[in-house]
Amino acid sequence: MTTSAETKAALVRLCSMDELAPGEGREFNVQGHHVMLLGTDEGVRAYRNSCPHQGRSLTFAPNEFLFSSKGLLVCPHHGASFEPGTGLCTDGPCKGGSLQVLELVAQGDELCIDPASLR
Ligand code: FES
Repeated sequence: MTTSAETKAALVRLCSMDELAPGEGREFNVQGHHVMLLGTDEGVRAYRNSCPHQGRSLTFAPNEFLFSSKGLLVCPHHGASFEPGTGLCTDGPCKGGSLQVLELVAQGDELCIDPASLR
């Protein structure tokens, strides 16, 4: 059995809850896994930073994401568009697919991720 202290120690802090506004994103390398956080009207969402089309990063430069005028996340490689709140691809070569949703763990005002959940 894992104690709460062991669980807490295993978590990796990513950011505070209010650090990302809608239209903002940030990427992380969590023990070799590429993770991105997106700010939305409903709070911060976490996804694997891998486009379902060809598995490429959704950044065009370190920590730089493209957002359309409608607030959709746009893959810089072939233009797939994603809803930041759900990860659903609404247009482009992987339309109907989805970003891989990752679970965030709240620790007070901090958002963390369990690296074990990324394997
Ligand atoms: S790799 Fe993202 S649209 Fe092709």
